[in-house]
Amino acid sequence: MTHRYTTVTVQVPASTANLGPGFDAIGLAIDLWNQASFKLIDKGYVVQADGESADQVPKDETNYILDSFFQLYRHLGEEIPPGVSLRCINRVPLASGMGSSTAALLTGLLAANAMLGAPLDKFDLLDLASSIEGHPDNVAPALFGGLTIGAIKDDQRVMMHQYLIPVMPILVVIPDVSLLTEESRALLPEMIPRKDAIFNHSRTPFLIEALRSGNLSLLAEATRDRLHQPYRFPKIPGSRQALERAREAGALAATLSGAGPGLFVFPGQKRKSIAAAMLQAFEDEGVTARAFQLASSNQGASVSPLK
Ligand code: HSE
Repeated sequence: MTHRYTTVTVQVPASTANLGPGFDAIGLAIDLWNQASFKLIDKGYVVQADGESADQVPKDETNYILDSFFQLYRHLGEEIPPGVSLRCINRVPLASGMGSSTAALLTGLLAANAMLGAPLDKFDLLDLASSIEGHPDNVAPALFGGLTIGAIKDDQRVMMHQYLIPVMPILVVIPDVSLLTEESRALLPEMIPRKDAIFNHSRTPFLIEALRSGNLSLLAEATRDRLHQPYRFPKIPGSRQALERAREAGALAATLSGAGPGLFVFPGQKRKSIAAAMLQAFEDEGVTARAFQLASSNQGASVSPLK
């Protein structure tokens, strides 16, 4: 095994997926960044974590970032290094619907790829990470930035298009409810009525058009969905009410963020009052929640080899 570099740092943004009707296909990068530095050491795996939920992050080789780092070596048929020191600063809340596991996956893959002298390009990494996740809707925006549409083709390569859109204010409200992506996907039915499929696919092009052109008056209708949210709301107490309150308080659009439990809002001009109304809606249901005032990002992940 030849390492081109032995120390690299990686930055990966949060992301939101679906944006309403674009289930498993549409995603948007968010200007909130996890950072990690990797250093090859003689022996053993050492993890130091700071930031969001740092105490919940495994500190040994079961850490998902390290596991993803190893996955790239396995994918390339390379021997896994006997020692790695990983330091991470975590800003994307875990299990929130803001792409924290995608960020961890890409962090590991990008670091290993850089150390090995970049045998894979970004599109290869998009294919690999999307096949691991099963869908490209968080991977594509986190890797490339901006608004992305993506589909996994029969040959397992990802067809992807990136739109660099004007930076949009974003509000994410995360209730203190545990709902892992796997559990959230298990809530979805195998079969859906044709009218629901039509409901979603007829709105999805308007969603892209609204964000691409800046015709934000389309957003309210263009972010409606019948494929996943109705099945997920019952597992997130207060979510339906909080989205309703966001709209009443003037939000341009309000949806589940990815598989939840976080809620994603394009707040327009009234971010503070919308956040307050949503937090109150959760409180009324006895659920504590946190609001994050953020923005979209046209930047995706980056890697800096240091040595
Ligand atoms: N599209 C995915 C879902 C995003 O809604 O389940 C979370 O991985």
